[in-house]
Amino acid sequence: MGGATGEDLAGRTVVYGITGGIAAYKAPMVVRGLKALGVDVHTVMTEAATHFVTPLTLQTVSGRAVCTELFSGLSPDAHEVEHIALADRADLLLIAPATADFMAKMALGLADDLLSCVALATKAPILVCPSMNVNMYNHPATRKNIEVLKERGVHFLEPASGELACGWEGAGRLPEPPRIVAEAKRHLYQKDLAGISMVITCGPTAEDIDPVRFITNRSSGKMGAALVEAACVRGANVKVVSGPVATEYAPWAEVVMVRSAEAMLDAVTEGLKGTDVLIMAAAVADYTPASYRSSKIKKKDRLTAVELKSTADILSTIKPLKRDAFFVGFAAETENLSDSARQKLVSKGLDMIVANRVGEAGSGFASDTNSGLILVGPGVLDTFEHLEKEALAHKILDYIRERV
Ligand SMILES: Cc1cc2nc3c(=O)[nH]c(=O)nc-3n(C[C@H](O)[C@H](O)[C@H](O)COP(=O)(O)O)c2cc1C
Repeated sequence: MGGATGEDLAGRTVVYGITGGIAAYKAPMVVRGLKALGVDVHTVMTEAATHFVTPLTLQTVSGRAVCTELFSGLSPDAHEVEHIALADRADLLLIAPATADFMAKMALGLADDLLSCVALATKAPILVCPSMNVNMYNHPATRKNIEVLKERGVHFLEPASGELACGWEGAGRLPEPPRIVAEAKRHLYQKDLAGISMVITCGPTAEDIDPVRFITNRSSGKMGAALVEAACVRGANVKVVSGPVATEYAPWAEVVMVRSAEAMLDAVTEGLKGTDVLIMAAAVADYTPASYRSSKIKKKDRLTAVELKSTADILSTIKPLKRDAFFVGFAAETENLSDSARQKLVSKGLDMIVANRVGEAGSGFASDTNSGLILVGPGVLDTFEHLEKEALAHKILDYIRERV
């Protein structure tokens, strides 16, 4: 049962166990999120879970019959033992929500229903997402059961804190379906980048003119965010240095938010210590106002020009700190893509450059896809046309992996 590389999770199987907690109402959205990744989902429900969400709903969204019974009766074409077949088929056993009761059963090794039998029989990684009343969660019995399961290598996604369905406040809320899906996704990937530390810069920078106005660019941070997520799910240790963006980064990365090109330079210089790979996906401002006005420039001032000065070039400044780290740059160009990129590759001492076309639909800033080419030397290593940024991120990481 090897892991997946690249972005392709098609053909991978998640056995999804739902137990009898109120948060089971989120389960259909978890299934939809997993299906959107191309994953085959086999749903198993405890008897208690069927009181909170119907098997019919889960069957419809998963596109498969839902398994609820350990003793499902005689079948004329039965040729396999269901709980063992499910256990063997799983690339991941996901249990969300996991009740206090079910975790207690797992900790004791009980096997008195279909899901507990699968949990005991599977050799696949198990990801448990507990959800319950805060006092049940903090009870020494529950804490002990979680500890025992963690010692056995079971993975946990901790519950969120806040107002709970039962009226109490505190830890016990099931994380939202996209967070559960992301965590499941991480467990489905082969960790081919484990042990590699990366600094990835993302987004634009903002250069302040006065307390109200600033100069920025159209970078959304999407390409950077795709790289961050892809690197994290493949096991890299990722530090993000990001300009102001609305985009969210993968929850496993350490994120340092900055504003200006100067602040980004400081954060990159600091982050570079002990880093194996630097990916400069940020669109750093080339110019910044020559001076900052600490009070708002008024309309009646009739401002006609803002004097600019060049920002420090981050790659050129940090070049002496490179050691044997692998440096990847990005170039956003409207024309002469390969010539401009080649020039930048050489002048900035980069090991690889990704040049993408901007100024056309479906490529560059804020788009979900990108077109352009990848250079590692004088020759073009690869070209890509309207490729999803997630797929491009994995492609770039594949090329980096071959070289570090
Ligand atoms: C309305 C209601 C809500 C419940 N919510 C939870 C819950 O969120 N978490 C939990 O651990 N148990 C919850 N329970 C208790 C479980 O349903 C009970 O322990 C059950 O035996 C769990 O069975 P299972 O672990 O086989 O699914 C709830 C019970 C009721 C009646």
